[in-house]
Amino acid sequence: MKKFSLVLVAVFLALMVATAAIVWGMDAIDERQAASAQVPSETEANVIERGAYLARVGNCMACHTSRGGSPYAGGRGIETPFGTVFSSNLTPDNTTGLGQWNTNDFWRALHHGRARDGRLLYPAFPYTSYSQITRVDSDALFAFLGRLPAVEQPNKTHTLRWPYGTQTALRAWRALYFKPAAFQTEVSQSGQWNRGAYLVRGPGHCTACHTARNAWGGSDMAHEFSGGLMPVQDWYAPSLTSPQEAGVATWSVPEIVQLLATGQSARGATSGPMSEVVLHSTQYWSPQDLEATAVFLKTLPGTDQQPRGKSTAPSSPAQGASIEAAGKGAPLYEKHCAQCHGKSGEGVPNAYPALAGNRAITLPVTANLIQIVLNGGFLPATLGNPRPFGMPPFALILSDQDLANVLTYIRTSWNNEASPISELDVNRFREKTVQSGR
Ligand code: HEC
Ligand code: HEC
Ligand code: HEC
Repeated sequence: MKKFSLVLVAVFLALMVATAAIVWGMDAIDERQAASAQVPSETEANVIERGAYLARVGNCMACHTSRGGSPYAGGRGIETPFGTVFSSNLTPDNTTGLGQWNTNDFWRALHHGRARDGRLLYPAFPYTSYSQITRVDSDALFAFLGRLPAVEQPNKTHTLRWPYGTQTALRAWRALYFKPAAFQTEVSQSGQWNRGAYLVRGPGHCTACHTARNAWGGSDMAHEFSGGLMPVQDWYAPSLTSPQEAGVATWSVPEIVQLLATGQSARGATSGPMSEVVLHSTQYWSPQDLEATAVFLKTLPGTDQQPRGKSTAPSSPAQGASIEAAGKGAPLYEKHCAQCHGKSGEGVPNAYPALAGNRAITLPVTANLIQIVLNGGFLPATLGNPRPFGMPPFALILSDQDLANVLTYIRTSWNNEASPISELDVNRFREKTVQSGR
């Protein structure tokens, strides 16, 4: 471990020397281009309203509000593999918030990932996506935040392990993984498609989760949308290009819109972090924006057939051990699950998701499946579905072996064809659940 850190630092330093100058230079050019952006004439009230809407689209409040704290006053800890980063106070307080900031300072934070004093910001703030937010939208967001009640709440100090907490490390990280980039319109595509692409890549920051991450927390943009294991939470955000994962090329536009607006659709339901995205953000997107997003998502090429992240061997349900486990799982399913999900995994429309033919069950990366059954799950409460049913946790009811058996049963029944789940797989997540007090 120690040796690994030393190597990392060496690489960091070498890279800093080689690239810092280039990165600084690029920032300066971008700044000039940004300043010349045209602002269309809009009344102030319109601008603030649009800013409020964009804040929903960007889900700013969820990260910038601590539990039980004042909205947008920051202080929420975001756990990363390198330690905890705390969100900042975005209210217009003069000493602890953005009171002294102007629109240029704010643009620099979103587009370049730099604070007002020039400090490089941590990418736990998803500026790798927000960089594509237009100047006009950045100004609207700033106008909206400026109208919030000022809350005096000093920012908390990040608790990152050495060397990750240093500006040097950040500079090296940015040289590798971040380049301020304006949204590129694709002229061969419709205005609607481009609106969807902008929302998904920019303010909606879908790629912050749905992109493979490497060990340093950098997104692998060559595999944009190809699915990524979310560090710490250990949820897998499936590939938006693979039809076996979260790709929606074969879904109808209304089905995609329904999923993003309510967390449910005939083809699948959201869970875990995706339910939170629907709860705090996408349910508030306008019908036109959801439709544009669906139109864009449908065109993502289905080239990424091979799931990334930790994957298990190809399905082999015919194996003896698997059949035995599934055999033991069948009566457990009958007793604990069938009353909601149906005897043949058919579910109940708009209440309990079907497990038969549900790709969340057959994903090669089994993290989500195990977490849902251990910890329970929720569908977001939305305008379209104000009182959704919940999924009870089974951590205290079933042993690791029982859970492995019942999961193997649902992965190999009703034409579902996936590999078995072992007691060890379940145990790994139970340990985590206990440790983190979840
Ligand atoms: C996934 C969590 C997350 C989301 C979503 C998020 N932020 Fe942040 N933001 C952070 C964290 C963490 C920091 C602190 C980074 C640091 O100090 O290096 C931060 C810092 C900032 C800063 C710099 C403040 C300062 O004092 O330097 C600004 C400005 C900001 N965010 C604006 C926004 C806006 C606007 C949105 C929505 C469009 C947003 N953030 C959404 C996590 C988030
Ligand atoms: C905080 C991380 C995160 C963000 C941000 C995020 N997702 Fe997800 N998403 C997930 C996870 C985890 C899953 C797997 C769980 C599930 O199926 O709901 C998922 C699942 C999905 C699915 C598959 C649902 C199904 O039932 O097959 C779609 C489609 C999707 N996301 C689209 C989006 C879009 C569009 C955005 C941007 C507006 C987005 N996601 C933003 C984490 C995220
Ligand atoms: C009281 C009703 C109820 C019982 C009992 C129940 N579930 Fe669920 N289950 C739900 C609901 C509601 C959801 C949707 C919540 C979510 O996706 O987070 C769900 C979601 C799921 C999912 C995720 C499906 C998806 O599309 O993402 C799986 C897997 C699952 N249940 C398996 C099981 C298993 C295995 C059992 C028995 C050990 C079980 N459930 C028992 C109500 C129930």
